[in-house]
Amino acid sequence: MNTKIAIIGAGPAGLMLSHLLAQKGIDSVILERRSQKDIEETVRAGVLEQGTIELMRSVGLEERMNQIGYKHEGINIQFNQERHRIDFPSLTNQEVMVYPQHEVIKDLLNARQKEGASIYFEVEEVELFDIESKTPSVEFTQYGERYSIHCDYIAGCDGFHGPSRKAIPSEQLKEYEHTYDHGWLGILAETAPASEELVYTHHPNGFALLSTRTPTLQRFYLQVDRTDHIDNWSDERIWEELRTRVDLGNGPELQEGRITSKNIVAMKSYVCETMHYGSLFLAGDAAHIVPPTGAKGMNLAMSDVQVLAQGLIEYYQDNREELLNSYEAIALRRVWKAQRFSAFMTKLLHPEQGASPYELRLQESELDYLVSSKAAQQSLAENYTGLPIEWEK
Ligand code: FAD
Ligand code: DHB
Repeated sequence: MNTKIAIIGAGPAGLMLSHLLAQKGIDSVILERRSQKDIEETVRAGVLEQGTIELMRSVGLEERMNQIGYKHEGINIQFNQERHRIDFPSLTNQEVMVYPQHEVIKDLLNARQKEGASIYFEVEEVELFDIESKTPSVEFTQYGERYSIHCDYIAGCDGFHGPSRKAIPSEQLKEYEHTYDHGWLGILAETAPASEELVYTHHPNGFALLSTRTPTLQRFYLQVDRTDHIDNWSDERIWEELRTRVDLGNGPELQEGRITSKNIVAMKSYVCETMHYGSLFLAGDAAHIVPPTGAKGMNLAMSDVQVLAQGLIEYYQDNREELLNSYEAIALRRVWKAQRFSAFMTKLLHPEQGASPYELRLQESELDYLVSSKAAQQSLAENYTGLPIEWEK
């Protein structure tokens, strides 16, 4: 088969790219390793930056987001049993929305499928060919049948473990990496919201985050060791540790409920600066990973494909390649700023294992500075709600 853009991966990056291109009449084919049910049900990110909210609106996908998403005008930072609110509108005139990633996926899939998009689920053995040429191709197997796609460009939107980045010769890859000792244990619990807005908590036992999904389903996270195993965490132990870390000293606040899912994700920072190689473009987690503390991963995937889509649109509509050739440089500026912010939030809120009393006090002093300085809060607010895409090089 033939198409203009072969997109590998139906995550936020791949689906949004296909949707943006389709709005300008540019044809794409999407290949996805998992089933539709699986991608629609996997629990991951929760927070949309202002720019992602606006993107969803500008492409006609606001209806369900407005119905079931929650606008948040601030977050709480807690330490030493005190909670401090950071108010976004007065600091940056922006806000964020809690609208789960799998709902974004459902909106995008629904829009693409209504338009009769070519999306192949449960594909295996995806291979990229001739990416250094102007006539690349992708081969894949679905239900035992082998297919081949001839295209102008390949968009590698297949997450950190996908085959796209691996297709680039290793000596051409410019990579940066940092691993943390921490992981996040995340749960979904059937209970009432623990707080109106998110609470990011520093505690000597470790970080904790109170987030939400619906009035009856909550999302909570605990810092654990990256090598810890979920079997070590009974529901009782999770509640006990959450209560300890988010305690404000005035009685029980956290209402327990049935835990419907729990898992541990290790933390990592990674950037592959080679986001453009021949006719292959990498976008989203395929090119970079951030620790989740800044809530940036899905938002970065969305801003990457905004730039990539615009570059492809200018190429197909006006035969201009400048923007496409600047994709890597434009995307990387935002990627590195999100790396910086995610590392800052992680270091601010996660006590290191075996931290000395001095190091803990220094962390508390950093937190104290944040909540007492308008300049520091403004910096946090503008980064958390999302920096603009810098289109000019
Ligand atoms: P993915 O969502 O990983 O999509 C890639 C797709 O490619 C997948 O569907 C995969 O199945 C498919 N694929 C892989 N290999 C192949 C193959 N061989 N062939 C075909 N398809 C393949 N981000 C935020 O912005 N805000 C948050 O609040 C936030 N919280 C998070 C909390 C947690 C606990 C975690 C784990 C992540 C969080 N993130 C958050 C990060 C966010 O979920 C990711 O950054 C986001 O999913 C990246 O989107 P993507 O489309 O690039 O990749
Ligand atoms: C959620 C995830 C995050 O990484 C974060 O910083 C805030 C909220 C969430 O899943 O709700």
